[in-house]
Amino acid sequence: MKKVDIIIAGESHLRYAQEICEVISESAKVRGTGIARRTPEYVQTKMQNGNAIIALSGDQFAGFCYIEVWGHEKYVAHSGLIVHPDFRNRGLAKKIKEFTFHHSLNKYPTAKVFGITTGLAVMKINSDLGYKPVTFSELTDDPKFWAGCKTCTNFEILTSKDHKMCLCTGMLYDPTQKVKKKEKWFNKKVLKRLKKIKQSMLENNKQLLVWKK
Ligand SMILES: CC(C)(COP(=O)(O)OP(=O)(O)OC[C@H]1O[C@@H](n2cnc3c(N)ncnc32)[C@H](O)[C@@H]1OP(=O)(O)O)[C@@H](O)C(=O)NCCC(=O)NCCS
Repeated sequence: MKKVDIIIAGESHLRYAQEICEVISESAKVRGTGIARRTPEYVQTKMQNGNAIIALSGDQFAGFCYIEVWGHEKYVAHSGLIVHPDFRNRGLAKKIKEFTFHHSLNKYPTAKVFGITTGLAVMKINSDLGYKPVTFSELTDDPKFWAGCKTCTNFEILTSKDHKMCLCTGMLYDPTQKVKKKEKWFNKKVLKRLKKIKQSMLENNKQLLVWKK
């Protein structure tokens, strides 16, 4: 197995931005789920601000994640988690997320950390880090954050539900509340079933919206 280093990205990593965006976009196509699209320029800004984490195996791009700051540092979100297909299923996403989580807590110690995702792997990782599932009302109300969902194929569902729910699950880590180990909520079977129910309910709603137009 090739050695992988996880580091805070900087100027020397700007050249990876294009590839990162391509892998994110290709993976979204394969999964068939919605995803907020990122431009290489946006990814580069994150790198320049010290808010991006990159995993490299020598010169080869292996994984990535970045921090977004919302509501005047009241909230931070860890977004764009991606592991290159050649490096999946060996715990790299978990390591990148953990690294990002600790970097973010050091940089923004009072900010609540949140994320929205449809991915079970991400829910599992977040649960291990102490995140809890929450309704969207507990997340930032910064319109810029929700504007990021515009390029997601499910955006119509989100707006039809007045930004209160969508196919993604909201998760939150509150640094002021210590998490007890026994409070873990992740249950793959239950979450898979919940996702299916939600998907079928919201997809029906989407069809209704199209029909009404
Ligand atoms: C999702 C993704 C980041 C996972 O990367 P990875 O390096 O293979 O994940 P890891 O090996 O660190 O796995 C972390 C945990 O999630 C679990 N997991 C991994 N893929 C999973 C899947 N498809 N479904 C359910 N659980 C999964 C693993 O079993 C592991 O659990 P464990 O700690 O109990 O062993 C990677 O598949 C990817 O880049 N996918 C495309 C982009 C994407 O979906 N990003 C998330 C957007 S929210």
